[in-house]
Amino acid sequence: MNHFDYKNGELFCEDVAVADIAKVVGTPFYLYSKATLTRHFQAFDSGFSMIDHITCFAVKSCSNIGILSLFSGLGGGADIVSGGELYRALTAGIDPKKIIYSGVGKTEEELRYGLESGILLFNVESEQELQRLDAVAAEMKMKAPIAFRVNPDVDPKTHAYISTGLAKNKFGIPIQDALDLYIQANEMENIDVQGISCHIGSQLTLISPFVETLRKLKVFTELLVEKGIAIKYLDLGGGVGITYDDEEPPHPQEYAKAIQEELEGLQVTLILEPGRVIVGNAGIMVTKVQYTKTNHGGEKPKHFVVVDAGMNDLTRPSLYGAFHSIAVVRQKDTPLQTVDIVGPICETGDFLGKDRDFPLVEQGDLLAVESAGAYGFTMASNYNSRPRVAEVMVSGSQFQVIRARETRESLIQGEIIPQFDE
Ligand code: LLP
Repeated sequence: MNHFDYKNGELFCEDVAVADIAKVVGTPFYLYSKATLTRHFQAFDSGFSMIDHITCFAVKSCSNIGILSLFSGLGGGADIVSGGELYRALTAGIDPKKIIYSGVGKTEEELRYGLESGILLFNVESEQELQRLDAVAAEMKMKAPIAFRVNPDVDPKTHAYISTGLAKNKFGIPIQDALDLYIQANEMENIDVQGISCHIGSQLTLISPFVETLRKLKVFTELLVEKGIAIKYLDLGGGVGITYDDEEPPHPQEYAKAIQEELEGLQVTLILEPGRVIVGNAGIMVTKVQYTKTNHGGEKPKHFVVVDAGMNDLTRPSLYGAFHSIAVVRQKDTPLQTVDIVGPICETGDFLGKDRDFPLVEQGDLLAVESAGAYGFTMASNYNSRPRVAEVMVSGSQFQVIRARETRESLIQGEIIPQFDE
């Protein structure tokens, strides 16, 4: 459930008409509902209230500090994958003791920054990373708290680009090789082994792959205990899916129940890294119709609605063939037409929706691209030298820009016309 609803044929975000925001902010923009963000965070987090746990929001899904600070206020931590995300999380006021750091390619500088900041755990993804972290920690006269990210070889049954827990994926350490590494790490001066972690993929619509993963981790954890290696944290990653179209993902509470049942008897603090399930349906992207056109010459006429947002602003349709529902902000009773909704970018792959039965729209109409809160703005680029769009948050009857629209000047910031000696 979210707080984007029609009232008298007009789309509202909580108590604010989306069209009123567009008048002030211009288009395109991302729009988030504070009540929905809060509700989704709490619905997820409260599912685990019976056990010791930390909900570490996956910053990569939506990294605006206005949103991170909201989750921080609700008791959330952060799952980060870069020094940039660590900076955002700390700036937003997230407790470093609730920050965990994943990712296969952490640089020395990033490891140092994580250690300096006193984060809870590094999720180490290779033997070389372990050695590098040990060396950096030694230099800093510290002990680095770690978990290994193991790759359980479980099929998450999702899009190939976003499955991460299969043996053929680059992530984690194959579970059969992990024991040796744990033993090695346990003997290292500057490493403090504390946990085990995994993340098998994103946009999962089934609970069973999570349960299968947890079973494998449990067996492995028992093996570690036998070797005298105590595990304090078990991190199950993120991945719970949302409804974009007709998917039927598990309700977060249902997911929580299944995980808790499976965890029974294990004395660990559970770490969760949800992203999409919290923010995905708490945000939309609003765009304006620039032109409509019909190309004849094919078997049948092809109708296009050209809008002012493109694949640089929301890349999921182009990159993954992902479906995002698109709706008119002011409902119309014009006849339906099958259209492609496309952006201004010079690429055929620049579309937001294909073959949609859509009411006839005209120049200036506003459209809402739904379920855009996760991996929307965070994956936006400046391709075609387009300034990144504004981000706006609504709370009740108020709205606030939480990231200003970039300007032409910001596009070339840092660029230099070189002056070489001839
Ligand atoms: N933890 C780790 C280590 C991850 O790699 C990810 C996502 C998450 C947590 C959060 O997963 P979530 O709960 O959001 O499913 N750009 C793609 C999604 C890539 C996901 C990458 N990892 C998309 O737009 O669908």
